[in-house]
Amino acid sequence: MKKFLAVTLASVAILGTSLPVKAQKWEGLAPTPPMGWSSWNCFGLNLDEEKIRGIADAMVENGLLDAGYTYVNLDDAWQNDTRDENGNILPDPQKFPSGMKALSDYIHDKGLKFGVYSDVGCMTCGGHLGSLGHEYQDALQYARWGVDYLKYDWCNNDGLTPKGAYKLMSEALKATGRPILFSMCEWGNSEPWTWAQDVAHMWRTTNDIHAKFDSYKHYGTWGTSGILQLLDRNVHLRSYAGPDHWNDADMLEVGNGMSVNEDRAHFSMWCMLASPLILGNDIRNMSQETKDIILNKEVIAVDQDPLGHQALRYLTDSGIEYWFKPLVNDEWAFCILNRTLEPREITLDWKEFDFEDLTFHRKTDLGSKVYKIRDLWKHKDDGTTEKNRTITVPGHDVVMYRLSAK
Ligand code: GLA
Repeated sequence: MKKFLAVTLASVAILGTSLPVKAQKWEGLAPTPPMGWSSWNCFGLNLDEEKIRGIADAMVENGLLDAGYTYVNLDDAWQNDTRDENGNILPDPQKFPSGMKALSDYIHDKGLKFGVYSDVGCMTCGGHLGSLGHEYQDALQYARWGVDYLKYDWCNNDGLTPKGAYKLMSEALKATGRPILFSMCEWGNSEPWTWAQDVAHMWRTTNDIHAKFDSYKHYGTWGTSGILQLLDRNVHLRSYAGPDHWNDADMLEVGNGMSVNEDRAHFSMWCMLASPLILGNDIRNMSQETKDIILNKEVIAVDQDPLGHQALRYLTDSGIEYWFKPLVNDEWAFCILNRTLEPREITLDWKEFDFEDLTFHRKTDLGSKVYKIRDLWKHKDDGTTEKNRTITVPGHDVVMYRLSAK
């Protein structure tokens, strides 16, 4: 036995530093894409405990918790400008006079979960304290507060390597002994989908979203992207996502100023992408149209499908896109997206969609097999794939079906 151990240790020593340092995140926290709400898209830097408690109340009262939205997340600007005498991070006492534990308890008492935000650098993107040099200490503080989710940003990273910085925080969270979901936010710079499966439960794939359907806005070296721009950046990442490791197309902008058609298309496409669904609107004051979108359980079920497969953009023709997402029980979500502003009449010839999805080894068999069609926005059964059909897809909108065996 001793001899065997000596040999083993020797081979480890010979392999030396090339042995991979594998961070082990807390497994199993995100079997389906995480769902919740975050403060950034509607409150920006102006958040406080009264607003957050109001959001938690509204999550329950509006049936969002029942629909699966679980996390209430503080984004940037909850932090005090200085740490305490022992180096512990604290909340801004003006904004959070009752303290984080009290807020966390309030959220948990409603059956919701609590998330916070930090940054790999000494400063966040909004100029507040980050975690550099305090990673284990901050993780412990979060655990004491009862935090369930950490979003970890990439501003002021000062030459750090993403792999090292994110592994460090992943391990710090794991070491607390509390299950805390880890959401990486380094904007896809280092292609985290290629290396972060053991480190995080989700990773942002791009720069920030803004509430425009089709535009990119430059701010010097930085920019914000519209729905179509983000969609295009996620198309080629489908083989990297799955249960417990999701491509995050960014927080939702439904209810933040786009048209109802655009909001519906945005929500549908995030569900087709199996992206986390983190709401970004003020859910204390929502229109009926916004509620109908974010509470559409049939569309949410496409996002939350247990297989966790991201959709394939199968065909693009003059601004119309045909997307297929493999679902459990040999079903498919089929979404037709109109990228143009004009309503478009199209004829669906089902045989044209007879193909094999080689990433996930699934055939549609639409040339030979007949499926029942469920219209997920009209909430009604809508015939079968036996015959071709002509439909109209409004501008900047979708038609979304679930196809199941007849
Ligand atoms: C970055 C992130 C955003 C948001 C802000 C907060 O821009 O990508 O999602 O967290 O920082 O300052």
